[in-house]
Amino acid sequence: MSGYALDNSWNQANRRLALLEQLLDPMTMRRLTALGLGPGARCLEVGAGGGSVARWLCAQVGPSGHVVATDINTALLDGLEHPNLETRTHDIMADPLPPAEFDFVHTRWLLHHLPEPERAVRRMVEALKPGGWLLLEEVDFFPVHTSSSGLYRDFMVALTDTVVKASGRDCFWARALPQMVATMGLERVGGEGDFSVIQGGSPVAEFFALTADQMRERMLSSGAMSGERLDEALLLLKSPDFWGFGGGGVAVWGQRSPA
Ligand SMILES: C[S@@+](CC[C@H](N)C(=O)[O-])C[C@H]1O[C@@H](n2cnc3c(N)ncnc32)[C@H](O)[C@@H]1O
Repeated sequence: MSGYALDNSWNQANRRLALLEQLLDPMTMRRLTALGLGPGARCLEVGAGGGSVARWLCAQVGPSGHVVATDINTALLDGLEHPNLETRTHDIMADPLPPAEFDFVHTRWLLHHLPEPERAVRRMVEALKPGGWLLLEEVDFFPVHTSSSGLYRDFMVALTDTVVKASGRDCFWARALPQMVATMGLERVGGEGDFSVIQGGSPVAEFFALTADQMRERMLSSGAMSGERLDEALLLLKSPDFWGFGGGGVAVWGQRSPA
């Protein structure tokens, strides 16, 4: 059992993930293109969520390519129709992947939800063909500590702690990802960081507000935050006068030896 807290069957999951895609897709697309993605490639998108990357991959690889999009809950993928798309209900911690099958394996904002991210990454590495590329995109929320607003800092820590509670991890671990990937026998390992600048009322602020809506009962019942303070933080996220930093993106890539 995965224990994933942000179930894709929630009635606003589509909107929430679309906001995340709006923020992250341009970076993902730039990175995959730079790694050589093109027609004919076989791709695996793990934890595909709302499916925007899977859709884009289908267009990039064309009719001679193939895209497998997996998720523990494919509710938002099931309506996607592309002749070269295959959707699978799949738990990356429990279900097997075909070995040496893919030219590109990608996942984004998934690993912090998993109890053993290293094991999941190893499985993804094993699914690469010789010469295939792995691209992992994760988030480490260290930039939120720079905010002068104690309310915002407390809110983001309480929210992210609640989201990953079931996995027993925290949202401040992706700083370890480059080192982890570098020990997995891949070649040409590289990385890149980024972080979002949030204005109250912006799409990314709405993404965090919706995440808090979905997590509200858990945040209150665990005592992570009082209802009053949570509502104050949500007002902050709506105010155009509020500015802060969001999650810090950590991207790491590497190639399986072509030999
Ligand atoms: C934060 S969302 C990110 C979605 C998408 N990767 C994106 O960046 O737009 C995390 C996704 O991972 C999926 N997920 C969570 N645990 C999983 C697991 N053990 N195996 C596969 N997918 C999982 C969730 O259902 C959700 O769709």
